[in-house]
Amino acid sequence: MAFHITECIRKTKNKQPLTNEEIRELVRGITKEPLIEEYQLAAWLMAVCFQGLTDAETAALTMAMRDSGQTMHWDLDGPVADKHSTGGVGDKTTLILAPIVASGGVYMPKMSGRGLGHTGGTIDKLESIPGFRTALSPDEFLKQVREIRCAVAMQTGDLAPADKKLYALRDVTETVDSIPLICASIMSKKLATGADHILLDVKVGSGAFMKNDADARELARLMLAAAKADGKDCTAVLTDMDRPLGMCIGNALEVREAVGVLNGETDSELGQFCLTLAGELLHQAGIGTAEQCRSMAQEIVETGAAADRFARMIGAQGGDASVVRHPEKLKLSRCERTLTAQQAGWIAGMQSEEIGRASVLLGAGRMTKKDSIDFGAGIRLHVKYGDEVGRGDALLTMYADKESQLDEAEAKLRAAITVAEQKPEERPLIREILRTGADT
Ligand code: URA
Repeated sequence: MAFHITECIRKTKNKQPLTNEEIRELVRGITKEPLIEEYQLAAWLMAVCFQGLTDAETAALTMAMRDSGQTMHWDLDGPVADKHSTGGVGDKTTLILAPIVASGGVYMPKMSGRGLGHTGGTIDKLESIPGFRTALSPDEFLKQVREIRCAVAMQTGDLAPADKKLYALRDVTETVDSIPLICASIMSKKLATGADHILLDVKVGSGAFMKNDADARELARLMLAAAKADGKDCTAVLTDMDRPLGMCIGNALEVREAVGVLNGETDSELGQFCLTLAGELLHQAGIGTAEQCRSMAQEIVETGAAADRFARMIGAQGGDASVVRHPEKLKLSRCERTLTAQQAGWIAGMQSEEIGRASVLLGAGRMTKKDSIDFGAGIRLHVKYGDEVGRGDALLTMYADKESQLDEAEAKLRAAITVAEQKPEERPLIREILRTGADT
């Protein structure tokens, strides 16, 4: 039967499911002639936002988007794993996880992105290391993965190109926040990368796309189902984004913090979180039991193996590997200002979205696609959620190129941090873990 996009729009608008064939044709028309007009795609996206898609439609959309470009196949002598975060503030886990997991015998070819809105991106963080190259050719990427077992590079244009076009359209038509569309966007890229074991870090809270547990669980359920339909082993960890992850936000600052963990500072909340995730991924890849893998991750850090591997990865990608032993070489911006508590109490709220936006004002992120980043800009927190503070205690230090940027960010940061008279209830960083298998 001939394909008509208007028929797809009508069906989705009326909550009638599309056939697999219709979804394949729709995705084909995003990147291949005859192209579907963008206004018609936008209308369909909006219909999806209002009416949703069935699980079968979401899986079909994910697979069709996966197949819209190159799909990678690894021929290596060990398990291949990948990790994805749905986007957060202060999230430097990839920098810590990749060298630990690679040192544990698992290949980790990682494609990452740049910052988006108030959320940071791994590629920007790595580029704060002098000389570091994130644009690797497919051959360079493969060679490095074979030799070092980990590489972190910019997503190539050939991987899931339908998502690239659709995402740009969603961004300007207010159709980003649809759970089936987010699932298809993320999983099409993950499945195209070809890893057998996938760990998804689904952020929940004010600083995340998913603002509540129910939505995060639904997104995780759909992503696990898509992975399962493609024969992949997948785990989704729901993690709290009602506070930034770790104590630093900003590119060079976050690399410094990540290097601290790799050099043995694992007692922090960030350190413990990364060891848990690394253990989970090693376990998923069949290296040992969950307990063995958690201990192995700890040992890999303690022996210095993870720091060494990170240094090798930086060196292979043209960066200055000495920053692993001397993180102070990562320059911070020249203006700094410390904010102090105006009253005594407990840190009862840290609105991570606002903290992320303040870091953008300081220069750590982009306001428009063309903006360049000030790698040394950002925020170092001196307190975390639940800490007790006295009046005048340091809350955080801001770094920026200009005093005026500090002024702008200061107001935002003051409003983002709540000091309360009562101790707030404890909130674990990991809220829930879901796995392919029984729950999908
Ligand atoms: N990240 C993606 O890659 N896609 C989305 O839709 C949301 C977050």
